Amino acid sequence: MTSEFNAEAIRHQFPILKTDIHGKKLVYLDSAASAQKPQMVLDALHSAYGETYANVHRGLHYLSEASTDAYEAVRGKVAKFIHATDEKEVVFTSGATMSLNLIAHSYGNTHLSAGDEVLITVAEHHANIVPWHLLGERVGSRTIASPVNSDGSFDMDVFKSCITERTKIISIPHVSNVLGTVFPVREIADLAHENGAICVVDGCQGITHMPVNVTELGCDFYVFSGHKLYGPSGIGICWGRGEIWADLPPFMGGGDMIDDVETDRSTYALPPHRFEAGTPPIAETIGLGAAIDFVQSIGMAALRDHEMDLLRYGHQRLAAVDGLKFIGQAVGKSGVISFTLDEVHPHDISTLIDQDGVAIRAGHHCAQPLMKFYGLSSTARASVAVYNQRSDFDQLAESLEKVNRIFKG
Ligand code: ALA
Repeated sequence: MTSEFNAEAIRHQFPILKTDIHGKKLVYLDSAASAQKPQMVLDALHSAYGETYANVHRGLHYLSEASTDAYEAVRGKVAKFIHATDEKEVVFTSGATMSLNLIAHSYGNTHLSAGDEVLITVAEHHANIVPWHLLGERVGSRTIASPVNSDGSFDMDVFKSCITERTKIISIPHVSNVLGTVFPVREIADLAHENGAICVVDGCQGITHMPVNVTELGCDFYVFSGHKLYGPSGIGICWGRGEIWADLPPFMGGGDMIDDVETDRSTYALPPHRFEAGTPPIAETIGLGAAIDFVQSIGMAALRDHEMDLLRYGHQRLAAVDGLKFIGQAVGKSGVISFTLDEVHPHDISTLIDQDGVAIRAGHHCAQPLMKFYGLSSTARASVAVYNQRSDFDQLAESLEKVNRIFKG
């Protein structure tokens, strides 16, 4: 952790964290579902609507130009943040789900045919599963899922054995939203390329917890949502390699993605605008830019060190809770602690500890295949963000002991 890292000062920047819930101090441990927003992001949204708002790419008046400049500046900011070589490789979407649907349509429809395979892992959330099923319904491709080890760790040999000559897309999470497992993206991307496939990375839980360099990762697409990175909802990123974008058809048609339109045919703009039909989420995009400024003001490396310390402490603290079993214990795991508490249903856990102001997620975490893999219907999950402190895990552990007293006497 850098000496400048000041957890209390960071927490102070999030107005919502000052809220009392049921008369108790809010302990927010549900950032993997959606992170809270710092004042910088709220100010950026306010100013985007209150000072520079107009539609983008369409007006020649002052406000439209100001709005377009602010909006387009975020493209360059995102490119620098993920170390993309060209900002034109950054496509704005509504979120990671739309990004993956875009890839499944624009790349999948044109490069896959009946019998081809998309290789995923059993540890995906639904956004990296269902678009491939829909692709299968359109072109006849199949979705194959590689298992993980019982501790949640990745097994390269097993994964390799799932690759066939029909594998055309390998789509993996950077970090599992349930297990916290960090996947070896570089090795998997190299493997994909050796086998004539592309590598898509669902970066929802990766971009929030560690520095990301898409060039070093060697993948072909990297997607994420703004709202998990302290930014607004409704804005996401689909980064792809320029030469892949160049040949892809649009996913959706409408304003802003065209070159020329006749009544019976159209030609399309160059990437990235070819993939951005309609009026975009203008203020939200500007808000995402502020979120990137926020995390960069801390430094992703310092943020990661803080969160890893929290995760170690959280595991240690929760391990002492009677009946608690961790789901996902891969070495180097990141961001989340999933667990069960004997026979107590995770929904009951979440509802009871909410009375102490503790917010966690309970359920299948949009990852039903993974739940089935572990023979569970749901788990409880505490997830960390830069504003959490060790005391949040003290409160979680105390509240879980209270749950034990209620259920076990
Ligand atoms: N994928 C999000 C989560 O893990 C919604 O909670």
